[in-house]
Amino acid sequence: MSLGERLFPVVFPMLKSMRYCAVGVGRSDHFSLDRYVAAAKDAGIPVVNVCAKDRDGVVPYVIKQVGGLRVGILSYGFAPPEQDGLDLRKRRYLALKEAREKSDFLILMDEGNVANEDWIKRQAERWGAPDVIMGNMSAFSLGSQTKVVGKSWILPSTPQTKSVGVLEVKVEPGKDPQMKFSQSFLNEDIAEDETIKKALEEYAATEKKRSEAMSAAMNQRMLESSGKPPAAPNPGAAGSTARGAYYDSRTCVACHKSQHESWAASKHASAVKPLIDKGRDIPACLDCHSEWYRQTGAYLPVDERSKLGVECASCHGKVLPHGEAGPDKSVAGPRIDLDTCRACHKPEHSPDFEKKSKEYWKKASHKPVKST
Ligand code: HEC
Ligand code: HEC
Ligand code: HEC
Ligand code: HEC
Repeated sequence: MSLGERLFPVVFPMLKSMRYCAVGVGRSDHFSLDRYVAAAKDAGIPVVNVCAKDRDGVVPYVIKQVGGLRVGILSYGFAPPEQDGLDLRKRRYLALKEAREKSDFLILMDEGNVANEDWIKRQAERWGAPDVIMGNMSAFSLGSQTKVVGKSWILPSTPQTKSVGVLEVKVEPGKDPQMKFSQSFLNEDIAEDETIKKALEEYAATEKKRSEAMSAAMNQRMLESSGKPPAAPNPGAAGSTARGAYYDSRTCVACHKSQHESWAASKHASAVKPLIDKGRDIPACLDCHSEWYRQTGAYLPVDERSKLGVECASCHGKVLPHGEAGPDKSVAGPRIDLDTCRACHKPEHSPDFEKKSKEYWKKASHKPVKST
């Protein structure tokens, strides 16, 4: 499931009204996990994922009572690459064992892509494989067919929610569950839900207003500051749902030509590019790679401003704004130091930074680097 974070508060109540019992964690959900979990919690839907077990609000599995039957929902959700592999295998193993013991009918949401044929056969010999498996890679390649391995049914998935699957299950004591699967296509078989349609239209209208107000405010600021020092932030102005003031690097060039030149040639100036190349120009990554996003929370890949990456203000925020007189000299304390960099150069993203901080500093400080 790939949703803009701002859609969470719209979508979760819908899932609730559709009586969702649980949601898993896909790759894209993982990148805004805090907000995802919070929105699910607000809607009262448990987030299920084995590999984020220790996180508040996330559980490895849930057990629901359905007409006297204990139905388990277990999720092998997306695991970030930095997760310890051994620990992950242990979590998956224990959760399956527990959930299998506690449920008569077990569903595995397998976004983590663990349950291949071999795996299913091995689990069947241990304590029983899940009765139903969905959401993994093989599920995407099934088209509209189900696949049965041993006693486990793999249900087909479509990547963009083009259809809804219905599984009818009949369980009799002492017998294997009997299942029948069918699919309905959303734009053919299912009538538009008026409540949901309205909620989506309202959402789209709010977003449109928001982005128009934002551009208007930005254009205004650009006009005011062209050639002159950047204008002071204007709280309460149209579109100032912004997180802070955004100072466009192009406004500094008039007075700091050489620094602008060295910055423009640095990787900081194009830090959004690797994200676009990887299709990851998403909030979780833009939070460090784009000053525009950091300050406004707005981002459109086609927008010139959003391509400027890490900008002057990302490092020099403390002396901004200022004009011809320069920054206020009476302000005490360091204006820029290694802590400025550490806001982004955290060990997980910049593993060499602490070891090589002198080299990093030199590279960023507009001084020519001597080749030795
Ligand atoms: C906490 C801040 C932070 C976040 C969040 C962040 N990055 Fe980065 N990223 C950095 C820093 C700092 C570097 C530079 C590392 C270095 O050179 O030491 C970097 C470097 C990179 C590079 C290497 C660029 C190149 O020129 O090869 C890529 C690619 C990248 N990040 C992608 C991502 C993606 C994708 C995400 C989101 C999943 C992300 N980053 C989130 C701070 C961050
Ligand atoms: C990645 C962080 C970073 C970015 C981005 C950055 N600078 Fe700097 N800047 C530095 C560092 C580090 C120094 C050196 C400070 C020191 O040694 O005290 C510096 C120094 C300066 C100085 C003081 C004079 C000098 O050259 O030492 C000016 C003026 C300046 N920067 C302007 C800019 C402008 C304008 C931009 C954008 C076009 C910019 N900087 C982008 C880190 C940055
Ligand atoms: C109208 C001219 C003007 C503009 C525009 C301007 N500055 Fe400056 N800036 C100055 C002057 C003057 C100084 C003081 C220089 C000195 O003391 O040698 C200064 C000093 C600085 C310093 C050194 C800070 C320190 O520790 O003393 C930084 C960093 C800086 N400017 C960043 C920026 C950034 C970033 C922008 C754009 C957002 C910008 N400036 C826009 C005139 C300007
Ligand atoms: C707003 C987040 C942010 C801040 C603050 C920041 N950086 Fe970076 N830095 C990045 C990102 C993101 C990259 C990777 C850009 C890319 O490769 O596309 C990077 C890359 C670098 C690089 C590699 C660039 C190259 O040309 O090889 C150096 C050196 C660096 N940063 C030094 C610093 C220093 C020193 C500071 C503090 C004075 C600093 N950075 C502050 C986000 C930041």
